[in-house]
Amino acid sequence: MKRIIVTGAAGFIGSNLVNKLLDAGTEVIGIDNFDNFYPRDIKEGNISTALKHPLYTFIEASILDIGTLNLSKNVDCIVHLAAKAGVLPSINHPSAYVDTNIQGTQAILNFMQTNAIKKLVFASSSSVYGNTDVVPFVESAATDSPISPYAATKKAGELLCKTAHHLNKKDIICLRLFTVYGPGQRPDLAIHKFFKLIDSGKPIQVYGDGLTSRDYTFVSDTVDGILLAIEHVMANSNVFEIVNLGNEYPVSLNQLIEHIGEISDSPMQINRVDKKPGDVDITYADISKAKQLLGYAPKVSIQAGLEEFYKWFKSNNG
Ligand SMILES: NC(=O)c1ccc[n+]([C@@H]2O[C@H](COP(=O)([O-])OP(=O)(O)OC[C@H]3O[C@@H](n4cnc5c(N)ncnc54)[C@H](O)[C@@H]3O)[C@@H](O)[C@H]2O)c1
Repeated sequence: MKRIIVTGAAGFIGSNLVNKLLDAGTEVIGIDNFDNFYPRDIKEGNISTALKHPLYTFIEASILDIGTLNLSKNVDCIVHLAAKAGVLPSINHPSAYVDTNIQGTQAILNFMQTNAIKKLVFASSSSVYGNTDVVPFVESAATDSPISPYAATKKAGELLCKTAHHLNKKDIICLRLFTVYGPGQRPDLAIHKFFKLIDSGKPIQVYGDGLTSRDYTFVSDTVDGILLAIEHVMANSNVFEIVNLGNEYPVSLNQLIEHIGEISDSPMQINRVDKKPGDVDITYADISKAKQLLGYAPKVSIQAGLEEFYKWFKSNNG
């Protein structure tokens, strides 16, 4: 049986991944410090089902302290998702992002070295592409002009992983995730925020002209991609890969709002405000590499995914 550590296990993507790993009969050790970026009770809700599973061990701790935890040494792979997420808050609190996302990633790599763990899947982000002219985004494009501290810390994480591969022969896949949404989605992200405001009769804030677009990826597709990356890194040696995990289908903010309006039960009021700093104009994944290397094939359309999200939202918000 495989034994896998998942960091950020109480978060949105982490908790969805843990449930899937446990269903597949994998032993999972989840680590999360319930960072206060959004409320603890949401994260406790995320892990409530997994906590009952006999193959699950959950540890409340910071990744910065991973070296001090009494963890089993026989770990096949680490999936490192723990991070300070969110672009805008990183502009006001860059040092906190450096601590968690850079020092924290190095702490994971140190722990791997001390405990002879060879395999890592690391969650990077489409934000490393910045406002690139190369659209759709391809992994070989330059990523040396991040426009937020968050993006810079994710790029630094990739580079630390590459160094660990070079020096210590670690097998690592860095996945550049593209705006993930679905049941359990972080409350700070647009889709969750919009449905919540509309449902409570409040206006939604639309930044800029609504033409910015995002390659929204449904969480089950992201989780399937992470599982494929785990399989690949476990089955091969001398691996260092950077792989986009997106949906290959950018949706503009105006289109997103239109879809949400069709699905929501309540009428929508819109407030147009200035574009946010740190926000890129478009994210659009070229997923040829993920298809070829991992066999990744996202399945969920934006309409179906939004309906699924809204069902979850309604059952969790009365
Ligand atoms: N959601 C997206 O659209 C998206 C897009 C690109 C990349 N990512 C990346 O994917 C990963 C997961 O994102 P998410 O949306 O699930 O975010 P999330 O905030 O829901 O999950 C991250 C988890 O990490 C935990 N954490 C933070 N600091 C920690 C620390 N020091 N020690 C232990 N745990 C800590 C938090 O408590 C949280 O539960 C992150 O690395 C994020 O940067 C997410």
